[in-house]
Amino acid sequence: MTGATGTLADPQVRQMFDRIAGVYDRMNSVMTAGLHHRWRARAADLAALAPGDRALDVATGTGDLALELARRVAPGGEVVGCDFADGMLARAREKAGAEGAVRFEWADALALPYSEGAFAAATVGFGARNFSDLPQGVREMARVVRPGGRVVILEITTPQRPPLSTFFRLWFDRIVPALGRVAGDSDAYSYLPASVRRFPAPEGLAAVMAGAGLVRIRWILTAGGIIALHVGEVA
Ligand SMILES: C[S@@+](CC[C@H](N)C(=O)[O-])C[C@H]1O[C@@H](n2cnc3c(N)ncnc32)[C@H](O)[C@@H]1O
Repeated sequence: MTGATGTLADPQVRQMFDRIAGVYDRMNSVMTAGLHHRWRARAADLAALAPGDRALDVATGTGDLALELARRVAPGGEVVGCDFADGMLARAREKAGAEGAVRFEWADALALPYSEGAFAAATVGFGARNFSDLPQGVREMARVVRPGGRVVILEITTPQRPPLSTFFRLWFDRIVPALGRVAGDSDAYSYLPASVRRFPAPEGLAAVMAGAGLVRIRWILTAGGIIALHVGEVA
């Protein structure tokens, strides 16, 4: 299913996430010992939102980052969480319940159906590495954010130095696919390490953001260098 480079075409990515939507949240908690919530909270903080703002969470999946943003724009603000996998969106809507500040809708991250400068900030959590065209996805996020607003990218990155690099290889290449087999989808959880490996290193992602016209780009590495949080501003 996965090509040698870990690349999948968009319809395959969409089908894969539709398939794993039911186990996605549980797998995240098991794979990260629950730390993924903390990383999304940090990404939401970096979006520097204020009450009343409008924010966009791209490739929102089951909606956790969009819900984090919603807490920061209340009262009076609005968050749109968009994704192209209906199964993931259905879970997001269930989770949001009566949370009025957030709306989940279908959209392709590579051709966002929003006008220029429509949002105070745009985020993407663990989604950018699935974009079939990363520069196009980042350009679209930058396009829909108003001047001075932020684009935040939360992603898994490959640590370069031992002992974390050794642990990371063991965890991603052996344990994660084994957990995927237990969860009933070994293909999806073999794709995950492959997609992380082909994703650019922090400097490379910063260059992609600069290519999209973003300025004041910086990044934070956390969790021993496994998680990268990039932020840039629209000029
Ligand atoms: C690993 S999940 C991340 C979900 C969520 N953001 C989170 O923090 O858990 C990746 C998501 O990206 C979505 N995705 C990938 N490429 C996309 C695209 N071109 N347009 C919209 N959604 C996309 C998938 O459908 C999936 O829900």
